[in-house]
Formats: sequence, structure tokens, C-alpha cells
Amino acid sequence: MSTRHFLTLLDLSKQELTDLIDRAIELKTLHKQELESSPFPNRVLGMVFEKSSTRTRISFEAGMAHLGGSAIFLSPRDTQLGRGEPIEDSARVISRMVDIIMVRTFEHEKIETFAKYSKVPVINALTDDYHPCQLLADVQTFVEHRGSIEGKRVAWVGDGNNMCNSYINAARQFNFELNIACPEGFEPMESLMNDNRGRINMTRDPVSAVRDADLVVTDTWASMGQEEEKLAREKAFSGFQVNHELMSYAQSKALFMHCLPAYRDQEVSAKLLDADDAVVWDEAENRLHAQKALIEFLLLSR
Ligand code: CP
Ligand code: NVA
Repeated sequence: MSTRHFLTLLDLSKQELTDLIDRAIELKTLHKQELESSPFPNRVLGMVFEKSSTRTRISFEAGMAHLGGSAIFLSPRDTQLGRGEPIEDSARVISRMVDIIMVRTFEHEKIETFAKYSKVPVINALTDDYHPCQLLADVQTFVEHRGSIEGKRVAWVGDGNNMCNSYINAARQFNFELNIACPEGFEPMESLMNDNRGRINMTRDPVSAVRDADLVVTDTWASMGQEEEKLAREKAFSGFQVNHELMSYAQSKALFMHCLPAYRDQEVSAKLLDADDAVVWDEAENRLHAQKALIEFLLLSR
């Protein structure tokens, strides 16, 4: 059987994704009850990080420990990757020594090349184009709080970035409606929009995107690598803040999500983020449980 990778949500079938969310919820319960087993002793996860991270690094490293294995943090500052050793060679070598690899990098093509030359499963831990692991956690969080996301209405407000692209893939795989509101010039990937015409609605108006939504999602206006555009982006995105006023157009029980890190009173009001009933902290925690289910799936399908 050829090696399975998780570079986007389209790498798993709809059924596999639904099963994975169920398993994540199960693993979470077992973990809380201190009943989980450690099925992968001696298995090693390589973690290649070309961008910063809090949640992703900790959730993968802790997750691997829970599963009985271990993880190695590989920064370009300390590896030959950072000195120009080709991705192809790095992938060949690293994958001969570890059992599974996660990569956080810039261009999506880089992780595709890495996966092509890797003998072991490669997980996308964020590229400029996609952040599929975050979507596993988001869907898990929705399911835990509101039940199945199938047929629900989701609103994305803000930048058409890696998270937004992943929401388009999620709309396809989990079968929900997606309304996207973003300013001109900040749309998600065009090919994805074209492939999902019937499923997504594009608007410039946050209120019309959010109307009757079951879930409202946003993300930073300036992603990693766009630090120099920060001020220009703040101007372009004014009017796209998610706050209680905007949420009042959604369903009364609508959830708000943000992958974090968040910038208070920019893309989200401090009041909404710090509300007592915010699920963003569950969403962050679920990175741990969802990725444990993903690692288990990929290691067992080898
Ligand atoms: N949401 C997320 O991926 O966070 P980190 O950048 O901290 O890993
Ligand atoms: N869109 C953000 C997500 C951070 C987790 C970024 O790429 O920086």
C-alpha cells in the first residue's frame, strides 16, 4: 500500500474524516479519564518548523508522548535544511529515521515535494495555502458543542488565507454551506472557488455572510510572512471585525471560532474572544486530540 499523507483535507475520504473526528472525541474522553493506552512505543515524529508555533508544536509533541512515542523538533536554524540542503534529500534522509513527519512551511509546493520523497506519512502543519489540522480541531469542536456540522451554515469573515482555503475544503468534505466575506483583493484561492461554486457564496458584506450562520470564523488579517503588510491590511480589513454586533445577525446559538493567535480589537473584539461561553479554548485544546487521531490513522494505514 502506498504511503498516505495529509497535505489537505482532500487526502482523506469523507468517511475517513468523519471517523477521525469521532475517534478524536473518543481519545479525548479516554485521556481525561486517564484510560488511554500508549499504542506506539518507539515511534518517532519528526517536526519540521520553518515558521513559529505555540499550539501546533505543543499539541504534536504532547500527542506523541501520550501515544507512547516521541517527537523531534527540527528548526531550519539548526538543520542543514536551513543551509540549503535540498528538500528532496532532507525528506529522503529524515524519513529513513522517523516514522511520521509534520512540516510547517511557506510555499505549499515545498510540502508536496517533501511528501513525494518521504517514505513515511507527511502531515501539513500549515503552509501559506492550507492549515488542515486546524480544521480537524474546528470540526471536532463544532460536533462536541452542536452535533454534526453537515448541512449547517458557516461564515468566514476576513482574509481569504490558508484557513479560509481549508474551510472551503472542509465545506466539501463535511458537506456544509460556506459564506465568505472578504475585501476585494483578499479572496481565497481562485481554483478552489471555481471547484466549489455550488457550496460557497462570496460577498463583500460581513453582515450578509453571517446572517443565520451556525458558526462564524475569522483569523488574523496578516498571516506569518505578511508582517510588512500589517498596516495596509488593517486599513483594508476595517469593517471586517467579528464582534457581538456582527454575531447578532447569526443564529442565536451560533459559535465563534478562531484558530489563534488572535489580535484583540482587530479581527475579533476583545469582548467576544474573552466571553465566558467562548469555545476558542476548546478549539485550541482539540488540536491535541484531533492530531492524535490523525497520527494513529496514518501510522495504522502504513
Ligand atoms: N493555530 C495554530 O496553528 O497555532 P500555532 O501557530 O500557535 O501553532
Ligand atoms: N493564517 C495564520 C494562521 C496561524 C495559525 C497564519 O498563517 O499565520
